[in-house]
Amino acid sequence: MVEGVATQFGALVWGMGDGYNPAMSIRAAIIGPTGYTGFWLIDLLLRHPAAEVSYLASHRDELPNIAEIFPALRGRCELSCRPIDPDVMVKEADVVFTCLPHKAAMAYVPAMLDVDLRVVDLSADYRLTDAELYEEVYQTPHTDRANLEHAVYGLPELYRERIEGADLVANPGCYPTAAALALSPLLQRSLIKPENIVINAASGVTGAGKSPKPHLHYPEVNEAYSAYACGTHRHQPEIEQTLSDQKGSGVSVLFVPHLLPVDRGILETIYVNPQDDDVTEDDLYEAFDDAYGDEAFVRVQSELPNIKHVRDTNFCDLAVRMVETGAGRKVVVFAAEDNMIKGASGQAIQNMNLMFDQGGTAGLL
Ligand SMILES: NC(=O)c1ccc[n+]([C@@H]2O[C@H](COP(=O)([O-])OP(=O)(O)OC[C@H]3O[C@@H](n4cnc5c(N)ncnc54)[C@H](OP(=O)(O)O)[C@@H]3O)[C@@H](O)[C@H]2O)c1
Repeated sequence: MVEGVATQFGALVWGMGDGYNPAMSIRAAIIGPTGYTGFWLIDLLLRHPAAEVSYLASHRDELPNIAEIFPALRGRCELSCRPIDPDVMVKEADVVFTCLPHKAAMAYVPAMLDVDLRVVDLSADYRLTDAELYEEVYQTPHTDRANLEHAVYGLPELYRERIEGADLVANPGCYPTAAALALSPLLQRSLIKPENIVINAASGVTGAGKSPKPHLHYPEVNEAYSAYACGTHRHQPEIEQTLSDQKGSGVSVLFVPHLLPVDRGILETIYVNPQDDDVTEDDLYEAFDDAYGDEAFVRVQSELPNIKHVRDTNFCDLAVRMVETGAGRKVVVFAAEDNMIKGASGQAIQNMNLMFDQGGTAGLL
């Protein structure tokens, strides 16, 4: 880390957050800066009071200036992309964010760790702890089992202490972040049953990344609303892994994602059975308050969440209802987040802050 380097716009624009060290600047490299998560990382780092964008690394033959790719960065960040070269990157960066598709990430991460760069990986390559399960779900061999063994799942509200000492953090998926925050406190306190959990989720179109795909063209998405990958989405095992770990025994879910014709935002509506007849809505809120009372980025609220209220923020908004139905009582949990921020780049910055002892909220409030 460099002492006393000024950051662009940082403290002028956003709040500084708690516990950050103004005498320090974390130098951040990004591999894959030309995609959506890369863009939002650059944007957030430019506003961070103790971090700077020091190296943008691309696999392209013709290396673009990042402001040509994202005109919104003109006058803020006009760095040219450079080759993905760990020996050069380690001289200019303390941490590298890999904003790459799965499979591509694990092709670069070992070389970054070998030169002692710390890594926050936004792909799925280090999220599932069981390599066989990864290979089944992602239909590709896992080529970096050695590092998978010590990767830490980067959901700060659940695994803060492990993240602080980590060299390799697996940034969670967007849908799994909201599901894990919504259900973990209720499972831990045995207020809900660990089976027959249905997660009904909708995401904005940026969730699918920047590369063009026919079903994501404007005429296909506009004024449409459709379910996809019912019970087969790759995030289902990731959600089950985290919830089982939090509960301490097996948890199974049915995950049903939908494509929402907005550019960003996730809303999850989750149907669960209460553990027994005594559980009340107050008990459920008490569990949330216990778990998240000191957390800056989880807002427990009585009104039902709305993706508009979390847009461009690192917040996850939670609410819960105990509903009487003709067939008994049902717990319904609601979670909203911005898939690009708490679901991706904001959470990656939260992880960087913890890894570099900068306080959890620096650059994010
Ligand atoms: N979008 C979300 O809401 C979200 C949320 C959570 C996690 N994630 C995960 O984060 C990762 C990045 O997502 P994204 O939405 O930013 O994707 P994206 O918009 O498609 O961007 C992908 C980036 O990776 C680069 N890239 C592709 N193949 C590469 C290779 N073989 N070697 C080096 N660079 C390569 C691309 O460069 P070119 O442009 O030059 O091809 C681009 O910069 C994915 O694993 C995704 O699943 C995304």
